[in-house]
Amino acid sequence: MFAATNIDTSNKPAFYDELATQLKALLEGEGDSIANAANTSALIYQMVPDLNWAGFYFLQSDEELVLGPFQGKPACVRIAVGKGVCGTAVDLGMSMLIKDVHDFPGHIACDADSRSELVVLLRDADGVFGVLDLDSPLPGRFDKDDQAGIEKLAAIYVAASSFED
Ligand code: SME
Repeated sequence: MFAATNIDTSNKPAFYDELATQLKALLEGEGDSIANAANTSALIYQMVPDLNWAGFYFLQSDEELVLGPFQGKPACVRIAVGKGVCGTAVDLGMSMLIKDVHDFPGHIACDADSRSELVVLLRDADGVFGVLDLDSPLPGRFDKDDQAGIEKLAAIYVAASSFED
């Protein structure tokens, strides 16, 4: 049985290094992309402070993201590429760090409590195939250290998992 170990959150880079180690251990020996997405979102939601949502959206076509495994309240199922924070991340091909979602005109409010958001890309050799999305009820919850840490966790998830074309 895997048991997540509490980590000191005062030093963010060190926190994410340790969380990366725990995620690798959690996913070790398992390649199922849905099971791994479920466990990745569960570990992030359990360990990263002050979140109200953490989960995956996968590209089902070049135009549309579809909801994958997550933790938090039920969420919007389909997001068009170019729409919302998630669809904009895919469209621009970059992570999105939104300090206050009220200042992002296209933000899609799945949970009215969300005030800040971090979206990082899932990429393999063929390019972007989805996003990992974190929401917080606190404005300004995420900074560059969170972005770097979550990008690393997304890369660990991609490396551990098998994806059918
Ligand atoms: N806020 C996102 C939608 C997904 S939920 O946050 C879970 C967006 O604007 O794309």
